[in-house]
Amino acid sequence: TAADKGGFKHYMLKEIYEQPAVTLAAFEGRINDGLVDESVFGEQATAIFDQVKQIQIIACGTSYHAGMIAKYWMESLAGIPCHVEVASEYRYRSVVIQEGTLFVSISQSGETADTLAALRDVQDQILASLTICNVPGSSLVRESDLNLMTKAGPEIGVASTKAFTTQLVALLLTTIVLGRRFKLTEDKEREIVLALAELPSLIERSIAMDGAIESMSQSFAEKHHSLFLGRGTLYPVAMEGALKLKEISYIHAEAYPAGELKHGPLALVDKDMPVVAVAPQNDMLDKLKANLQEVSARGGELFIFAGSTQDVQPGEGIHVLGMPSMPQILEPIVYTIPLQLLSYHVAVLKGTDVDQPRNLAKSVTVE
Ligand code: AGP
Repeated sequence: TAADKGGFKHYMLKEIYEQPAVTLAAFEGRINDGLVDESVFGEQATAIFDQVKQIQIIACGTSYHAGMIAKYWMESLAGIPCHVEVASEYRYRSVVIQEGTLFVSISQSGETADTLAALRDVQDQILASLTICNVPGSSLVRESDLNLMTKAGPEIGVASTKAFTTQLVALLLTTIVLGRRFKLTEDKEREIVLALAELPSLIERSIAMDGAIESMSQSFAEKHHSLFLGRGTLYPVAMEGALKLKEISYIHAEAYPAGELKHGPLALVDKDMPVVAVAPQNDMLDKLKANLQEVSARGGELFIFAGSTQDVQPGEGIHVLGMPSMPQILEPIVYTIPLQLLSYHVAVLKGTDVDQPRNLAKSVTVE
């Protein structure tokens, strides 16, 4: 009913707008004196974390994209070797599990058949299991040694939105508690915790771009294909943006790490192929700009979410939306918001069933 949707036209839009509140819920109460309280992971957390030598992350779909971002964090911030793989591949190949592996499953529902099966298959070969999950009492939570609930609240839209951003907050907390045992210093931890406090208002400010993104969406409604580009932690964000567009607007969208463009997909670029880029003000910006020039030179229409409108200039066929400036660690979380809004508005223009896209189920409990 309209009441359940809190006055919003769709659950998806309601859930996008809930993100300032739920990302706060995902870290609030888990910080003590500026440091993350690791007891929230479970009674055995400290004993288990002390023995971890590497991480294996397993998930599907949007949750897998969260895992990809966590891999960047685990290796660059924490210095912990980290692998990430989709559950439906991992469980069907013969894997080599190294000693001291913490198996981390990420799942909104906690009931995804492949993710659950992957955990069950390796139970006796791993150090321990941790699930990052949104549904208390779900199968993954019951069967894992440790858990960190994402606290997004019920997610009804099939296209995952708030589940993803809260997973990222939970994964950042996880990176911190493990990183303490590796290369993460207490100063760095305090810096990340301070940055997290800015997250809800940064998401709020991104949501305030809704009107501008709605106008932008008109350029997509008639298109059949699109490319999403990003580098570093923004590459999985591009993948997540492409998945959202595919799921609810049925427009073919493919994500590429921008540096791979010239190794093939550049051949596809023409005026009928919109290219969306997430371009924060980070150390990869110059490289990304060079990649984007290659797109423009071939007549491709660019839609850039940029950290600095000074560095990335709008022009003929180049649309630029300026994002607020933010701590680098928050970029993958905050840049997700405009991509969610973009696919939402494209889907509304196309008149698809936004909350219940064709052929898809909210929770994939079959293999
Ligand atoms: C995302 O929009 C999807 N509908 C889908 O990819 C989903 O993320 C995937 O099925 C995993 O679900 P889970 O997080 O509940 O395990």
